[in-house]
Amino acid sequence: MRMIEKNTYYVTTPIYYVTARPHLGSLYSTLIADVIARWQTMQGKKVFFLTGTDEHGQKVAQAAEKAGKSPQEFVDSFIQAYKEVWHQYELGYTYFIRTTDVDHVKAVQQWIRKLRDQGDIYKGFYKGWYCTPCETFVTEKEEIKDTPLCPTCGRSTSIVEEETYFFRLSAYQDRLLKFYEEHPDFIVPKERAHEVTSFVKEGLRDLSISRTTVNWGIPFPDDALHITYVWADALNNYITAIGWGQKGKEKEFDAWWPADVHVLGKDIVRFHAIYWPAFLMASGLAMPKQLLVHGWIKINQQKMSKSFGNVIDPRDLYASYGPEPVRYYLMRYMAITQDGEFSIADLEQKIGSDLADALGNLLNRMVTLAHKFDVVEVPAVAVWGEKSLALRDESSNAVQEYSSYMEDFLFHMALGRAWKFIHQTNAYFHEQEPWKMAKVDSAGFMEILSATCHSLKTIAALLWPMMPSKMEQMLDSIGIPKALENNTLDNIELNMWSTSFMLKKIPNLFEKPEAKEVSATAEASLQVPINTASAVQEIGIEDFAKVQLVVGGIEFAEIILGSDKLLKLQVDFGDLGKRQILSGVRKSYAPEDLVGKQGVFIVNLKPRKMMGFESHGMMLFAITDRQTALTVLTSVPNGSKVQ
Ligand code: MSP
Repeated sequence: MRMIEKNTYYVTTPIYYVTARPHLGSLYSTLIADVIARWQTMQGKKVFFLTGTDEHGQKVAQAAEKAGKSPQEFVDSFIQAYKEVWHQYELGYTYFIRTTDVDHVKAVQQWIRKLRDQGDIYKGFYKGWYCTPCETFVTEKEEIKDTPLCPTCGRSTSIVEEETYFFRLSAYQDRLLKFYEEHPDFIVPKERAHEVTSFVKEGLRDLSISRTTVNWGIPFPDDALHITYVWADALNNYITAIGWGQKGKEKEFDAWWPADVHVLGKDIVRFHAIYWPAFLMASGLAMPKQLLVHGWIKINQQKMSKSFGNVIDPRDLYASYGPEPVRYYLMRYMAITQDGEFSIADLEQKIGSDLADALGNLLNRMVTLAHKFDVVEVPAVAVWGEKSLALRDESSNAVQEYSSYMEDFLFHMALGRAWKFIHQTNAYFHEQEPWKMAKVDSAGFMEILSATCHSLKTIAALLWPMMPSKMEQMLDSIGIPKALENNTLDNIELNMWSTSFMLKKIPNLFEKPEAKEVSATAEASLQVPINTASAVQEIGIEDFAKVQLVVGGIEFAEIILGSDKLLKLQVDFGDLGKRQILSGVRKSYAPEDLVGKQGVFIVNLKPRKMMGFESHGMMLFAITDRQTALTVLTSVPNGSKVQ
C-alpha cells in the first residue's frame, strides 16, 4: 500500500480564525496533521507541516471592535495562545503562517495581479447574501427575496450590494468535473465528494473576491477601494508559506508543492474542493493530492464552537490528563470520517482501561518481574518456541494492517488494530505465568521477557505518531535508543526479533484519573435553600450588612465538562476587578443567554472549589420551577452596591 514516489511530504492544517483562544476543535485539525507528519517522518520522509492563523475579514474585524481593540492588536493578542497550546500538545509544525505576514500579503497581491492580467479576474457588481461567521456568499444559485439562513451554520445572513472583483469560477466548471472524475481519491472520505460534484454540476457562478464595505484585509492591488475577500487571501497560504511569489524561494516552492494532503473540517469542504482547485488551475499550478475531511467534535449533539458557548479549553484537559492521553483519545475515539461526541467520563474511562490497564501495565508488569529476579539485560534469543513465534507473526500482521489503515488516514482503525496486538501480548505474558518459571526454567523466562520486549518495541514505534514522548519513555525503559532511524517502519518490518534489551524501571507511563473532586450533591448545595414563610428566621440589619451584594457584568460564560448544573462565569465588578464565579444554573440558562447581561452577586462568600474550579462569589436568582436571574432595570456601572 505504501507509495514511495518522492522523499518529501507536505501536510497542512486549515488556518484558524483568531477571534479567541484555540479550543479542542481547532486542536483536533492540527493534531490530525501532526500525526500524519510524524507517520511520514517515521518512514524516512522529509516533512513540511504547515499551520497558522487566518487573521483578516469581517468576522475578525467585528470581534476586534467588540473587544475595543484595533484588528491588528486583537489578532496579535491570540497568537501566543495558539503557539502555547500547540507546543503543550507536541504539535511539531514546521512553519506557522499568519495572513498578516508581509510576505503573504505581497504574494497574494501578486497572485491577484497575475489573474487579473490574464483575464481571470474582472470588475463587476455583486448583490446577494453574506454569512459573516462563515465568511461566505450564500446565495449563489438563485435570487431569494427573504433573508436566507446560512446553509452551513444556520445563522442569519445579511445583504451585500457592492462593486466587486469577480474570479471567473464559471470558466473552470468543466475542468473541475473532469479533475474529480480522473482523481476519485482526491476527497477523503469519498462520500464527501458527492456533495462537491453535485454542487459543481448545478452550475458555478463567478466568485466575488473583493469587498468595499470591509476594511480589514489585504488591499486589492491597484484599487484602493477594495479589500481582498478573506477566502481568496487565506487559501493562498498553502502556497505562499512555501515561497510562491517570493524571489529566491522558487526552489523551495518546487520542492514542496503540490501538497500531499490538506487536512480540513467538513464545514469548509467547498472552499477547498472547488474554489482552491480553480484558483490553482488559473495559476497554472498542480493540484494538491488529497483533501482529508474530518467530522466535528460535538458536545451534547452540538458542534463545539465558540459561538455556541460550549468550547473546551485544551489547557484544562492538559492540566488534568497531560497531552498524550488526550491525543490518543481524540485519534482513537473520534472516527475521523464522522462527528464524535466528546465526554470527559469516557475520556477518563479510556485512559484507565486502554492506557493504564492494557498498555502501561504490560510494560510495568514485565519490567517489575524482571527486576524481582535481578534481570536487567535481556539477551537476544537463539531459538524461539511456538507461542513466541505465533506472537511474532501477530506482530508482523499488526504492523502491516496498522500501516495500511494509516495510509488510508483511518487512525481509529489503526489504533484498534494496535490494541488488539497489545491484548495479544498481554495474553501471551499472562498465560505462561513467567513468575513461576524464573527459578525453574530460566531460558523460558528470558524468552518471555524478550518476546514481550520485542512486542513493546513494535508497539512504541507504531504509536509514536499518536503519543510521541510516552512512546519514547517506553523505548527508554527497554533500552532502545529512541532515535527515529532505529524505529522507522522499514526497521520494524526487518526486525526479525533479534534485539537485546536493557530494562529500566520508570514511573507508571499512565495514571488512572482520580475520582472527581466534587459530587453532584456538592454541586446542588451551591443553591442556598430558600426559607419558606413558615420558617422565616429574623435577622438584624447588622446581619444583612455582612452580606456584600454587588452588580456585575457577565463577560464570558461556559459550560463545565462533566457537570450538567454548573456554568463558569467571568464577571466584571468594576473597581472590585474581574472574578470567576460558578453558578448552578445550566438547566435554566445557556451560556449565551447570560453573556453581556448584568446580575446581582454576593461577593464576600469564602471562595469554594467545584469541579476543579474556584468560585469567588455567588449569583442570585429567583427560584420557581426554574431560576430567573436577578438584574437591574437600567444598566448601572459594574461594581455598584446593592442594598
Ligand atoms: N479560517 C478558516 C479556514 C481557512 S483555511 C484556508 C476556518 N477557520 S476556523 O477557525 O473556523 O476553523 C478551522 C478548522 O477548525 C476547520 O477545519 C474546522 O472544521 C475546525 N473545527 C472548528 N470546530 C470544530 C469542532 N468542533 N470539531 C472539529 N473541528 C472543528 O474555517
